[in-house]
Amino acid sequence: QELELKLEMLEKGGFEHFMLKEIYEQPRSIKDCMRGRIYPEEGKVQLGGIKEFAEKLKNIDRIIIVACGTSWHAGLVGEYLIEEYARIPVEVEYASEFRYRNPIITEKDVVIAISQSGETADTMAAIEMAKEKGATIFGICNVAGASIPRLTHAGVYTHAGPEIGVASTKAFTAQVTVLTLMAFYMAQQKGTITTSKMIELLTELDNIPEKIQMSLESNDLIKEVAAQIKDSTNCLFLGRGSGFPVALEGALKLKEISYIHAEGYPAAEMKHGPIALIDEEMPVVFIATQNSSYEKVISNIQEVKARKGKVIAIVTQGDTEVKKMADYCIEIPDANEAFLPLLATIPLQLLSYHIAVMRGCNVDQPRNLAKSVTVE
Ligand code: G6P
Repeated sequence: QELELKLEMLEKGGFEHFMLKEIYEQPRSIKDCMRGRIYPEEGKVQLGGIKEFAEKLKNIDRIIIVACGTSWHAGLVGEYLIEEYARIPVEVEYASEFRYRNPIITEKDVVIAISQSGETADTMAAIEMAKEKGATIFGICNVAGASIPRLTHAGVYTHAGPEIGVASTKAFTAQVTVLTLMAFYMAQQKGTITTSKMIELLTELDNIPEKIQMSLESNDLIKEVAAQIKDSTNCLFLGRGSGFPVALEGALKLKEISYIHAEGYPAAEMKHGPIALIDEEMPVVFIATQNSSYEKVISNIQEVKARKGKVIAIVTQGDTEVKKMADYCIEIPDANEAFLPLLATIPLQLLSYHIAVMRGCNVDQPRNLAKSVTVE
């Protein structure tokens, strides 16, 4: 039995849980995901998997992203990035909703299916339907040779390595990385970005793994914050712009593994409902980094403080404004807004992890959840 225990520790690379190991693997997994795909000095992205469709990408009217769960959140980040850089309209759909409607799809559409496992039944069915209607299907998958990569016309693997923890962590950031690369690639094809801008963005992207490593260094502080809010029954996550899908993902992570009811909301929508829930018992996690929506987020924080909510803020290193208001601030390194989702996700993963451990939950195998959902 002792041997078994030792073997298990070895599998987890000395970490107590697979989830924690996978969170800490992210500087590596993101590097692996970018390897051979980015050329910062030339300001070029190469995606061999979708190369054949490079010409088609110049003339597409619309992209539809289909996915479930965490992969759907990655899709929402992709929407921001593709619209911002490639100027192609994007719709993000839950695969299960998309397949049971009578969606309008034509041969001119590109459908991007995102799936860690490559086996999710609803995502597969959505692909089959879009394929029948003549759309071009790209896959973003982690498991090589799974069913979805075999169903799609082309695709880009995330190369995050096997993910064992049921709650997705490194697969999510790898999906976001691939979507970032796709957005830049499409922008390059369409000519909506200059080479000098690409050089600037890719040089920064190349350094993101190191910045993720720096974000992981807040682990002890995050543990302290976790101890303060672990007995809450509800928790709200708020963000704006691409910080909104990060908030959704932060809330999903917390509810999945700690069984605390959590909601993610666009910060500005708070006044249309969730604000009614705020009292001294309610922790509110803000994505409050210094970007285009910083000032707006600050006023949302003031609204929460005025109602005695507990504010936990993810802020840019060196921030002083939010620190005056928030109960707890967790810093992440400064970066271009395009890379905010990659960095801001890390402390939220750690926060959920520590809360779940403190509550005695089975973090790697939460109740009622499966790693891949192959039934409808
Ligand atoms: C399940 C998993 C989630 C995952 C979702 C979609 O619910 O527990 O972590 O995000 O399925 O899975 P996929 O493999 O298609 O990304």
